[in-house]
Amino acid sequence: MNLENQIYVRKSCRNYTDEEIDMTPIHEFISNVKPLDDSIKYDYEILTNDKVNIRTRWQAPYYLALFSEKNGNYLENLGFIFQQLSLYLQSIDIGSCWVGMASLKEKRDDFVISISFGKSDKMTRDRSAFKRKSLAEISDYADEKLIPAQLAPSAINSQPWYFKHSNDGFDVYQIKQNIIKRQVLKKWNPIDVGISLAHMYVANEENFEFYKKTDFENIKGYTYTGSIKI
Ligand SMILES: Cc1cc2nc3c(=O)[nH]c(=O)nc-3n(C[C@H](O)[C@H](O)[C@H](O)COP(=O)(O)O)c2cc1C
Repeated sequence: MNLENQIYVRKSCRNYTDEEIDMTPIHEFISNVKPLDDSIKYDYEILTNDKVNIRTRWQAPYYLALFSEKNGNYLENLGFIFQQLSLYLQSIDIGSCWVGMASLKEKRDDFVISISFGKSDKMTRDRSAFKRKSLAEISDYADEKLIPAQLAPSAINSQPWYFKHSNDGFDVYQIKQNIIKRQVLKKWNPIDVGISLAHMYVANEENFEFYKKTDFENIKGYTYTGSIKI
């Protein structure tokens, strides 16, 4: 199973067939996934689309509902865990898309976000079709090591991540949005940062470590998320 290859051809899938899916490999993958912070409890359910209030113009046959206790970097943690799943799904010909615009018909207080998924033949693309900030915009200097993070999906393609070089990797920051965007993005942007870290992990599986510094640099316009060794 090569998840890294998926990073360079992935796209959010919004076109599904109704074909039934065997969920066993999905449950198995999740039971072996690496979290960003293993002290944060999370949970998920696989739902058919009749159990979900869908506010997008398209829909998928299945939705993963993601739940978490609301502690520490729980949003980054969910992004990190379930982006690994999204890459895995694509590797077995199942398309997926993070969906902020959906809620559960049966409410749960710990619900955070959902991911649509299903069989599809429209879930890969050419590298040239990615619309992304340049490497120089997402770091203190352009570095090809950051391509996996650069290509990560994010809510309304906001790409809120910033990577400052350190001795053994990067200090990771999230952009502070202006007041208008903040309302929409405050919940999603930490998930986006977690998603970009999942791509950095998948591309550097051997050495990847996430930790928090106390002596990080304050950078105007950004908040510090944590640091990675790669
Ligand atoms: C946290 C999050 C929430 C998202 N919510 C939606 C959504 O509600 N509807 C939708 O069509 N796409 C949604 N997306 C997909 C983004 O629009 C998409 O990732 C971005 O435009 C980049 O395109 P790409 O994933 O095809 O590279 C979401 C993505 C993320 C990471």
